[in-house]
Amino acid sequence: MIYANYAATSPALSPVVVQELHGYLGETHLNAGRNFEGLEAGAIALRARRAVAKLLGVADPLRVIFTSGATQSLNMAINGLVREGDHVLSTSVEHNAAARPLEALRKNGVIELEWLQCDPDGSLDPEKIRGAIRKNTRLLVMTHASNVLGTILPVTECFRIAHEYGVLTILDMAQTGGVLPFTMEDYGAGNSPTKVGVANSDVVAFAGHKGLRGLAGTGGFVIGEAAAGQMRPWISGGTGSVSQSLDMPEFMPDKFEPGTQNTIGILSLAASVEEILRTGVETIRERERASTARFIAGLGQIKKIAVCGTLDPDRCVSVVSVAIPGHDAGEVSRFLFENHSIITRSGLHCSPLAHRTAGTFPGGTIRFSFGSRTSNGDIDAILEALDGV
Ligand SMILES: Cc1ncc(COP(=O)(O)O)c(C=O)c1O
Repeated sequence: MIYANYAATSPALSPVVVQELHGYLGETHLNAGRNFEGLEAGAIALRARRAVAKLLGVADPLRVIFTSGATQSLNMAINGLVREGDHVLSTSVEHNAAARPLEALRKNGVIELEWLQCDPDGSLDPEKIRGAIRKNTRLLVMTHASNVLGTILPVTECFRIAHEYGVLTILDMAQTGGVLPFTMEDYGAGNSPTKVGVANSDVVAFAGHKGLRGLAGTGGFVIGEAAAGQMRPWISGGTGSVSQSLDMPEFMPDKFEPGTQNTIGILSLAASVEEILRTGVETIRERERASTARFIAGLGQIKKIAVCGTLDPDRCVSVVSVAIPGHDAGEVSRFLFENHSIITRSGLHCSPLAHRTAGTFPGGTIRFSFGSRTSNGDIDAILEALDGV
């Protein structure tokens, strides 16, 4: 079996993570903050917050919030930050995890929404943001890399421009967490041109089950101090703190973490992110870049295949979509699976916007995505199979 669907989910937990989860299930299963024994769950969450904070270059681990995934995080951040009458900018390559909550707000008459048009290969000129900002623009929501085209968006520059105008930013890191080196403080968030306290104005949403290699149903977001003050809790409930009040606590992380946490999922994240830190994201990036470069170079030799997205492996994550004129994407995926045991994902990949941008709507593409266990042999076998379509 050749797994080429890492953009959807990581195929298996690493042995280190499995061992930790096994120990946890055998020993303890308690609820954070609800009684003194529950401290165990709180300690697991803190360990995971510290690991994620280190991975994403954030000083205060208490600004790491755990959710069921990037989808929940984006919904919480978008709905928690916008106010009636706001103008919101986003891009034409967003995943439905961001696009649908934004579109729902637009349809309900809460916001004015504008999609910044990316080029067919998924790249975006940051100056388009300057041109689109209005007096009432409050928010810019952007994916770090398209889950269809793999193209990395110039978020550093885009966010710098947004913050020149006091526009808050939400970054969807579902495809880049754990596979692209990243420091929250680095991308120019905040209103200060000197970047002092720059981490304090943004939200970064991450998925736990992709590049971070945790269990499905995990993820979260990191929030800057200023944005945390402005963001309303979109989900409310018990936190085990300030229980005399009917309002959510104002302090972090409780403000955004009501209800019982997914402790085993959070433990999987703690263990997997610690392992990623030991390996080094730079090393992971270099390995995945090499796989992508080998694949793109090989595709260039197969005349009938059209590669969507950038052909420059320095400008994309390990996600490559292809179309074969005259062939249905779903049929090709099935052919690869049934005849070569190659697992891909075809169709629209929950991102009709990206496919419209690339000109592959509604037929979609066949998407190949690589990760920790992808070998050169896998890439070569996929190329050989594609040659035979
Ligand atoms: C770019 C992007 N954003 C958001 C999501 C949703 O992530 P999650 O599964 O953690 O909700 C995905 C998952 O495919 C994605 O690729």
